[in-house]
Amino acid sequence: MKTRPVKPSASRRNFLSGLGLLALMGAGVFPMPATAETARAVQRHRQRIEDLIAAMTVEEKAGQLNLLADPFRWMPTAVNPLDGTGDPARVTALIREGKVGSLFNGIGAETGRRIQQVAMEESRLKIPLLFAADVIHGLSTIFPVPLAEAAAFDTHLAYRTARAAAVETAASAVHQTYAPMVDVARDQRWGRNVEGAGEDVLLNNLLAAARVRGFQGEKGLDDRDAVLATAKHMAAYSGAIGGVEYNTTDMSEQTLRGVYLPPFKAAVDAGALSIMSAFNDVNGVPASGSRKLLTDILRGEWGFEGFVVSDYTSEQELVAHGFAEDGRDAARLAFNAGVDVSMVSGLYLEHLPSLVASGEVSMARLDEAVRRLLTTKAALGLFDDPYRGTDPVREKAVVGSREHIALSREAGRKSVVLLKNDNQLLPLNKSQKIALVGPFADDVDNVWGPWTIWGAPERRVSLEAGFRAAMTDPQALTVARGSGVETPLDGGIEEAVRAAANADVIVLAIGESQKMSGEAQSRTEIVVPAPQQALVDAMAATGKPMVILLRNGRALALEGNVKNAQAIVVTWFLGEQMGNAVADVVFGDHGPSARLPVSFPHKSGQQPYSYDHKNTGRPANPDLPIEEYKARYRETTNTALYPFGYGLTYGEVAYGPVEMESNQMAWAGTLDVAVTVTNQGAHVAEELVQLYIHDRVASLTQPGRLLKDFKRVTLRPGQSETVRFTLNARQLGFIGEDNTYRIEPGLFDLWLAPHAQGGSAAQFRLVGPA
Ligand code: BGC
Repeated sequence: MKTRPVKPSASRRNFLSGLGLLALMGAGVFPMPATAETARAVQRHRQRIEDLIAAMTVEEKAGQLNLLADPFRWMPTAVNPLDGTGDPARVTALIREGKVGSLFNGIGAETGRRIQQVAMEESRLKIPLLFAADVIHGLSTIFPVPLAEAAAFDTHLAYRTARAAAVETAASAVHQTYAPMVDVARDQRWGRNVEGAGEDVLLNNLLAAARVRGFQGEKGLDDRDAVLATAKHMAAYSGAIGGVEYNTTDMSEQTLRGVYLPPFKAAVDAGALSIMSAFNDVNGVPASGSRKLLTDILRGEWGFEGFVVSDYTSEQELVAHGFAEDGRDAARLAFNAGVDVSMVSGLYLEHLPSLVASGEVSMARLDEAVRRLLTTKAALGLFDDPYRGTDPVREKAVVGSREHIALSREAGRKSVVLLKNDNQLLPLNKSQKIALVGPFADDVDNVWGPWTIWGAPERRVSLEAGFRAAMTDPQALTVARGSGVETPLDGGIEEAVRAAANADVIVLAIGESQKMSGEAQSRTEIVVPAPQQALVDAMAATGKPMVILLRNGRALALEGNVKNAQAIVVTWFLGEQMGNAVADVVFGDHGPSARLPVSFPHKSGQQPYSYDHKNTGRPANPDLPIEEYKARYRETTNTALYPFGYGLTYGEVAYGPVEMESNQMAWAGTLDVAVTVTNQGAHVAEELVQLYIHDRVASLTQPGRLLKDFKRVTLRPGQSETVRFTLNARQLGFIGEDNTYRIEPGLFDLWLAPHAQGGSAAQFRLVGPA
């Protein structure tokens, strides 16, 4: 069988080389939004950077690569409390001595100016500090968590929320965000699903690129509103065995390169100039000590030219991994592997000078890392204006602006997924009597999601507030918590039953608290906690119609009366406008338009699970309840209850057959495919038509289905539209046994379907090169 390897995209390796910047621009290889401004900023300072490197002592070079928590503006988080290194007097002294190059997780224009002044006025070489922060889904204005926003399947929306976050961040004297997280996550037990774009590679790639562009903007990194994006955590962090946080990953090179690495490549191609190395080990080598990942692939194969930062002490953790003997050894291994900047541990400051003296680290490697960081600082415009973003008037004007708050509500309602709607229970009538029950009914502590540091608590909108604002008679709403999140509430169920007694419909706001997902929040069972399940049982016993509003940072395995409720809505953590955004959908001002970016399995024990699993030699028939000696569990088929891509509208969309221009695709040609979708319902429907393929015969077995494209179409009641796609051979390849991308001719199945388990397959043949 003939194959054709696909060439990697144009190399961008020349960013830091001695070549003239304008020549690079001419060659189209500038690694970020290639504005003349940014290019000129770097070029203007090229000589200064070389002069600085020549003037720096080894200690100052090591200091430049030392990244510490910002003790002046620090907001401790549960995961990363301020440790002993964070004494303001000590850090001020380190800045004066040139022993720190960057600070993170402090914000604020005015204080930012004062800290920068220490570097610019009191240090010998006056190198501006780089300020970084975990701005994951908004700085002050909090948008939906990234997993929720992924459900919108809308790259432009992701771009816009990242842009808004960047505007607020840049105005708060912060130059870099530790986002986007681009870890493809396929085990819902793992807590950090909430920070990513779900289980599918294509969706992760698209959102990685959109978010990088959103953070960095289109005008160059030195633009007033741009922040440096950091794709994290390289790599395979989400592949943790058993879904246990920080755990070992062990996988084939094909899975690494075919599933986990592509979103990092997409981020680099979109211009990300920073990468964070991961905590975990991959096939025995800790990621933060992996030369293969951080140098050979990242720089050698992809041409990345920015800098690599370790995750919080991840280079120090090479010792606990059993990969390094002690801190000095860890610093040597991480640094030589390609980690340029050390976060928090202080190991580079402590050990790089002696490692250089002994020859275990070369001066050339040290200079290279310093050059990468200084060049990125220049690209950010810090050598032109070290005080960028320190104007408190501008900070006040843009942070939490009306426009951003409106965008948060828009993003929120576009992220809500409707899973079930028997007898058209939704949308609710605004003059109905409603009992809003559950631990999240009137709650504001769980609307942001787990990765919010600087939100404005007073702006959080509870479901109760959102519902009352939407209803004709706000008094027609009765509210009862009924249960705590993980523990029962004394008398809670009785109160909830009383609230339900006079209502036409019960709306149950249940699920996970925001502390149940995020870093270090792995779960063994991805279910609704038992006390809430008991509350739902009591509500079901009233016989009233029931809407479930799930709050969640991962896919859940729904059980019993939750699963059997007439209506089920996935509401994630939608950010500060949560109550309003949910009300927009529940009362029909916005028809549900989102789709699941993660499969909701039948049972927790199916994890890890993703829709694109392989057929195996004994594929099970999903329609048969029990089939022995097939690839399935005793208790359930190997499918999802609600698969990837699933989501209903208030309309009723029917799919016609797949129409194909031909049943053959020429090797260098394209294939046009189309499907006609018709809204047979009474409400407008926003349908997301999804194109999946299956490579029937290949030199390595391929997923039973793989998403290749999607398109959104809005249909009025009764309206039909033909949705067209053009497919080409480059979309049909995979990572072969030789670890390169290859395309093989042969037979393919193709679906144009509403979700990963829907539609019927058509076939075409990719005809090999002559
Ligand atoms: C997380 C990173 C984060 C860093 C800094 C770590 O615990 O894994 O995602 O950027 O802390 O706060």
